Amino acid sequence: MTEINSGGRSSKAYDVVIFGASGFTGKYVIREALKFLNAPNSPLKSLALAGRSPSRLSEALTWASAPNPPPQIPLLTADTSDGESLARLASQARIILDCVGPFRLYGQPVVAACVDSGCDYLDICGEPDFMERMEASYHDTAVENGSLVISACGFDSVPAEIGLLFHSKQWAGPSAPNRVEAYLSLESDKRIVGNFGTYESAVLGVANADKLVELRRSRPRRARPAIPGPAPPKGSIIEHEKQLGLWALRLPSADSVVVRRTQAALTENPHGLPGVNESVEHVKKREDFWSSAKPAHFGVKLGSKSLLGLFPVITLGVFLGLLSRSRVGRWLLLKFPSFFSLGWFRKKGPSEEEVASASFKMWFVGRGYSDSSLALQGDKKPDTEVVTRVMGPEIGYLTTPIVLLQCALVLLNERDNLPKGGVYTPGIVFGPTDLEKRLQENGISFDFISKKGLSS
Ligand SMILES: NC(=O)c1ccc[n+]([C@@H]2O[C@H](COP(=O)([O-])OP(=O)(O)OC[C@H]3O[C@@H](n4cnc5c(N)ncnc54)[C@H](OP(=O)(O)O)[C@@H]3O)[C@@H](O)[C@H]2O)c1
Repeated sequence: MTEINSGGRSSKAYDVVIFGASGFTGKYVIREALKFLNAPNSPLKSLALAGRSPSRLSEALTWASAPNPPPQIPLLTADTSDGESLARLASQARIILDCVGPFRLYGQPVVAACVDSGCDYLDICGEPDFMERMEASYHDTAVENGSLVISACGFDSVPAEIGLLFHSKQWAGPSAPNRVEAYLSLESDKRIVGNFGTYESAVLGVANADKLVELRRSRPRRARPAIPGPAPPKGSIIEHEKQLGLWALRLPSADSVVVRRTQAALTENPHGLPGVNESVEHVKKREDFWSSAKPAHFGVKLGSKSLLGLFPVITLGVFLGLLSRSRVGRWLLLKFPSFFSLGWFRKKGPSEEEVASASFKMWFVGRGYSDSSLALQGDKKPDTEVVTRVMGPEIGYLTTPIVLLQCALVLLNERDNLPKGGVYTPGIVFGPTDLEKRLQENGISFDFISKKGLSS
């Protein structure tokens, strides 16, 4: 492994290093990255893979390159328990794409190494407490050292973040949303299956929910956006959304937490975050973008065409609630993922066919006011409904790599227009960039569906 003592970004050996490339998601991230490596007009000119085992990295590269022979890509050895190996990695990379999870177990040393060396860090984490802990611990140093640290650059939580911004643009002029509910519908001709890594992250997340509450209590309160109208009632845990034809279950998803943090950041910085070396045109583009973004109360629900389709998730939720707090319970949950999730998660993950046949639709149903000043009239109910949709391929291993790669390409292309450094959510950094357009070009669509008046 060549070592490069690098200060500035341009002297880094690799544009992108995929860490955890031998993992289930990591190998799909390699496959996505190879599409852009040295492709015409692509800023991705050099790529390395990193992990604990060169032989597993090599196997993953062979899998990801098939049917072509694997290209010559450096394989770097690094382990999260070996700080020096991470420092070496960060000193060689412009951006590290971290796919080593659960992040609550393995993420912090990687963020520390990146922040220390001024390297940019993106991950596919869906664990709110890890994200908020990193923000609390590393934001100030990341700003100082010029390291951008952005978690949740996968299905968690970019479709929700960019989808909500797209939705908010449909509320033109004086109209404004009050609440937007995202209904996630997972579709497939085959079984819908997730890999053990995501399941383990969820088990540990529920087990440690108290720690997140403690962390939030210990931190200053974030600013709250001014949303027209009263906060809507939470509603029932299960509802039937007639116009979408979906039974829907309220999800304690990372998306709503990440969106709330983006809305807080925007309230604190109404023009968004200035770029490190931003052009005058870009300042205008960014300010215009944020001036037309409208915050809303936001929640996520899992939708299914039949009530029975929600049964595995409800069962898993009950088992997680009952068992994840005790050591024996966690052991059982982690030993028998397929049993406790009624087949939704498997130790070996989904087959390639199962991945290929799956897709998602995320419907954003927003209710609000045709004129935001109407919200000032005491008990005036929302009189307008807007529906938009984000749609794409399988969430964990197709959409997540697409999103992660496109975020990395935005960083490589537009670094001067982005903040010098800091720990941020994807929405506040990528909102005004061309990320939405890039996602559209890569199979994730954003569509306006309808706008109508509501009878009071
Ligand atoms: N945002 C999303 O929508 C989304 C989608 C998919 C996955 N994820 C998240 O991504 C994470 C990974 O999931 P997965 O299913 O890919 O898991 P996985 O198959 O278990 O992969 C984990 C990877 O981490 C590596 N690793 C583990 N311990 C390490 C250590 N101490 N040092 C260095 N590398 C280490 C493993 O390397 P070895 O090969 O050496 O074991 C492997 O490459 C999970 O947290 C999951 O929740 C999120």
